[in-house]
Amino acid sequence: MQPLLNIAIRAARKAGNVAIKAYENPVSIEIDSKGDNSVVTNIDRAAEALIVETIKKAYPDHTIVAEESGIIKGKESEIQWIIDPIDGTTNFIKNIPHFAVSIAVRVKGKTEAAVVYNPITNELYTASRGHGAQLNGYRLRVNNSKDLASSMLATIFPAHNKQYSDCYFAVLQKLFTQCSHFRYTGSAALDLAFTAAGRLDGLFELGLKPWDIVAGELILREAGGVITDFAGNNNYMTSGNVIAGHPKVVKDLLVMTQDLWDERLKV
Ligand code: IPD
Ligand code: CA
Ligand code: CA
Repeated sequence: MQPLLNIAIRAARKAGNVAIKAYENPVSIEIDSKGDNSVVTNIDRAAEALIVETIKKAYPDHTIVAEESGIIKGKESEIQWIIDPIDGTTNFIKNIPHFAVSIAVRVKGKTEAAVVYNPITNELYTASRGHGAQLNGYRLRVNNSKDLASSMLATIFPAHNKQYSDCYFAVLQKLFTQCSHFRYTGSAALDLAFTAAGRLDGLFELGLKPWDIVAGELILREAGGVITDFAGNNNYMTSGNVIAGHPKVVKDLLVMTQDLWDERLKV
């Protein structure tokens, strides 16, 4: 699967360069509302166009699912590229240097190659299924956490799902009292990659989209981490509700939060 990964890396670097240029010249950034209470910029669109062009040049028949363009059908429907041109657009707009390009390739429903790239720090997280995960070429392993009490967790407030604020903050309050530290970074893809790198021990986030999750998921799994939905099942790609991290941390998070989630978030 190295050829797929190589094209994903090439596309991510090109998109990252577009993002860096705009980051250094913020007046070039034009912000639009997407209507679902979220925002997009001309740079998200330009970066995505470049990724699509790079993939299409190498693999004209593959199908692409891109956050800003939707589905671009190819003759080959069993090979799908899942793209988030900028994960962390709100950080990007605020000139906070924490956002990433996220690209994954799925073959017959299995993620085979993944890239999460922070162009500002030049950190390139990569994974090929069965061949481990790397950060700038160095092998990644999840942090060998001993217990929740020493764990640093990440989360993201449910800004687009405020109807779940009560149970969300009940979960946060309980975990806050049991873990060591919390971080709110504003990029789900980087949270997964950071967890793969052992910088974080685990995370819980709700209402994510497949392009927020897929690449980071493979990188995390290849680094020895696990990912589940809020009920401990595999439905996270559909529900968008994710608990992830070191296996022991995930187990603890599931046990501690089961009775607090709104039942609708557990399906
Ligand atoms: C967002 C980020 C954020 C998460 C949101 C996503 P975007 O992606 O991953 O961390 O909380 O749910 O939509 O819009 O910056 O690509
Ligand atoms: Ca995203
Ligand atoms: Ca995005």
